[in-house]
Amino acid sequence: MMKSVTDAYTLSNGVKIPCIGFGTWQVENGQQAVSSVLSAIELGYRHIDTAQGYGNEESVGEAVKKSGVKREELFITSKLWNAEHGYERTLAAFEKTMRKLDMEYLDLFLIHWPNPIAFRDRWQETNAETWKAFEELYKAGRIRSIGLSNFRRHHIEALLKTAAVTPMVNQIRLCPGDTQDEVVDYSRSLNMLLEAYSPLGVGKIFGIPEMKELAAKYGKTIAQIAIRWSLQRGYLPLPKSTHTDRIKENMQVFDFELADADVELIADLKGAAGYSGDPDTVEF
Ligand code: A2P
Repeated sequence: MMKSVTDAYTLSNGVKIPCIGFGTWQVENGQQAVSSVLSAIELGYRHIDTAQGYGNEESVGEAVKKSGVKREELFITSKLWNAEHGYERTLAAFEKTMRKLDMEYLDLFLIHWPNPIAFRDRWQETNAETWKAFEELYKAGRIRSIGLSNFRRHHIEALLKTAAVTPMVNQIRLCPGDTQDEVVDYSRSLNMLLEAYSPLGVGKIFGIPEMKELAAKYGKTIAQIAIRWSLQRGYLPLPKSTHTDRIKENMQVFDFELADADVELIADLKGAAGYSGDPDTVEF
């Protein structure tokens, strides 16, 4: 089991990925993102998760520079936005990300969504072309590992028909009561690491009575119970906060262990923090 925020999972290609990442969805570009990411790095996080769609890549890059931590000690993820699918657009959008981050390479690049509205009539072909660009960037050493986000089993199966490189990661919504078993099992059968976005259910877990009881039982906060649970399930949680005290709290999850029965209880809180939406019907 992991012992600190810098302990790493190993991806199928041997790349090490720190076991908790700092999430930046809904962290506003500019002062808020710079100060949140900088706090996270100063507190010890070495893994930052951003995306073209979050609009805050410049601030992530700026915070990394301000931190003074060497680039190679950090793990930086970004994601291709929906409008940019397709071979040529992916290559161009990747260069834009690198300019915004002002970095020489990326540790992980993900296809953010499998089925954007703009390509709905031909998402299979479009993902195949997008993935070809990902593979070229990977083989050229521009990206250390490549993966998917919000892909369900049928999306992955379609991609594998033409993929030469099996994705190393699938980043999906995983939180108490939303365990997406089908896609998790399938992703694992392909040696993909599951990254857990919204590990706190975007705040929805704080009202769940069972989570309150467990927090009292272990003498931890509800956030810590959820993040610890995520790690014990073998996921890589990506908690987000813009508050320094919470950013710190969310990494203090290595001095206790949930009993197996409690890990199961949390998994079984079906829908208590909502369920992930259907990626085939998103409006973006
Ligand atoms: P804030 O950014 O104001 O701290 P998720 O990671 O599942 O997306 O959840 C993020 C939400 O949970 C945000 O609203 C965030 O608010 C809140 N949050 C993050 N960490 C904590 C914490 N330790 N205690 C309470 N709320 C938290």
